[in-house]
Amino acid sequence: MALFLITGGCGFIGSHLATALLRRGDQVRVLDDLSTGSRANLLPGCALLEGDVADPALVRQAMEGVDGCFHLAAIASVELGMRDWLGTHRVNLGGTIAVLDAARAAKLPVVYASSAAVYGDQAVMPIAESAAARPLSSYGADKLGSEQHARVAGAAHGVPTCGLRFFNVFGPRQDPRSPYSGVISIFCGRMAAGQPVTIHGDGRQTRDFVHVGQVVRALLAGMEAASLEAPVFNVCTGRPTSVLELAHAVAAACGVAPDIRHGPGREGEIRESYGNPALAGERLGLGEAVALEDGLRDVVAWLRAGSPGAADGFSR
Ligand SMILES: NC(=O)c1ccc[n+]([C@@H]2O[C@H](COP(=O)([O-])OP(=O)(O)OC[C@H]3O[C@@H](n4cnc5c(N)ncnc54)[C@H](O)[C@@H]3O)[C@@H](O)[C@H]2O)c1
Repeated sequence: MALFLITGGCGFIGSHLATALLRRGDQVRVLDDLSTGSRANLLPGCALLEGDVADPALVRQAMEGVDGCFHLAAIASVELGMRDWLGTHRVNLGGTIAVLDAARAAKLPVVYASSAAVYGDQAVMPIAESAAARPLSSYGADKLGSEQHARVAGAAHGVPTCGLRFFNVFGPRQDPRSPYSGVISIFCGRMAAGQPVTIHGDGRQTRDFVHVGQVVRALLAGMEAASLEAPVFNVCTGRPTSVLELAHAVAAACGVAPDIRHGPGREGEIRESYGNPALAGERLGLGEAVALEDGLRDVVAWLRAGSPGAADGFSR
């Protein structure tokens, strides 16, 4: 039995990871400021330290006695990064450095959330890890910065790391009321309530929607793969889904006729984005991700159950 720290463990992805670790018999400590996460997302048995991941003394305290750290705390919103560039940078890059710095005394392994946002707009699909990173948002730039600092942590301070570039993650506990929620939780929330959905532009823009269960498997495997070479892997399905196709799939999962409206396209929106999962498949031993339709049924069932917290039984 090991003890793991999860920063951001009260959030969408972190709480599914906490459940998976507890289920396999490990102990979990969470550091979270509850800015977007919720206590209700944690199962009893998780110790919660409430506070800021960019506070070095608190992170050092949180790291005491642990066997490894999963670093997921971040302001996971491109829009907020646009508005509060410096404030989000303090958390999104400063928080990562605080974690890596605290890990170096005991040379603890750190698995951290990067993002497909590091790629920006790419001409060649599917996007492989070898593509040149060209972020278009401060959020993406801070994730890329986190990867660079992870490299320094390995080379200069002996801290093993593994970075995971998540594409569009979806699943139960993603809050559909948040304006920063992913398109899936927004569509599911509205269609399950019998409301229309609005697509920005023609809806032919594609994304790679990966179920949170696959993301948790990648995080657990990432802890085994963490090394001083600071490897970085895509976490994606390799399957492009257009937003229009998604709207129809959500309607089918909700058992309703789709009521789709079109609004003006978003300036600068990336047209195509889907990843190549081959390297993660090979190095992390990840199997097939949960199919979109099955994952959507989970989300709708969770919403119809009243969006319960960690005891929702929806972790795959
Ligand atoms: N959901 C996605 O599609 C996606 C895609 C790519 C990358 N990611 C990354 O995965 C990680 C988890 O994302 P999520 O979707 O679960 O988001 P989330 O907002 O549900 O979780 C983030 C958690 O971090 C906490 N947090 C935020 N700022 C903090 C701070 N200063 N100190 C301590 N805790 C803080 C929040 O309260 C929340 O519990 C993030 O690093 C995010 O950037 C997510």
